[in-house]
Amino acid sequence: MEMIVFTGLQGSGKSSFFRERFASTHVHISKDHFPNARNRDRRQEQLIREAARKQQSVVVDNTNPDIESRTPLIRLGRELGMELVCYAFDVDVKACYERNALREGKAKVPDVGFFATLKKLQPPTHAEGFDQIFRVRLKDKEFEVTKDEG
Ligand SMILES: Nc1ncnc2c1ncn2[C@@H]1O[C@H](COP(=O)(O)OP(=O)(O)OP(=O)(O)O)[C@@H](O)[C@H]1O
Ligand SMILES: [Mg+2]
Repeated sequence: MEMIVFTGLQGSGKSSFFRERFASTHVHISKDHFPNARNRDRRQEQLIREAARKQQSVVVDNTNPDIESRTPLIRLGRELGMELVCYAFDVDVKACYERNALREGKAKVPDVGFFATLKKLQPPTHAEGFDQIFRVRLKDKEFEVTKDEG
């Protein structure tokens, strides 16, 4: 069982990457699925615990930009006996911004939200507790994945 944590700006391709790589093998956990829950962190934790009870691997698909947002996930994953894997989406700020600007309706994140996330971004490290870290970048419409050996 593994817990994959995504980290990256709005529009960096996280949810598309999930659909392409993990939709058939991992449970998709995202706060976007319950925008109106009273306590979204708690709701998210419940869903992760539920998946673990069924021996299912999960992908936590939020921006998870900083250590503060990732630490509780790492702690929970450890508690549940999951392997901890991080996929960090490349920060091409201009491209992310433009992709976000092209989105329609609710999918589009307001500028303040985008820049707030940008300000918080901290690259993931093994010291945080990840067993494996991968970098993802969108290149010629394809996702390119490289392993971070650091
Ligand atoms: N392979 C690709 N080539 C070109 N554009 C892509 C590709 N995959 C996704 N996109 C575009 O990039 C944009 C962002 O994708 P996506 O919704 O996956 O981002 P996200 O990281 O999940 O964003 P958010 O954090 O706001 O949920 C979308 O508008 C999508 O159309
Ligand atoms: Mg998304």
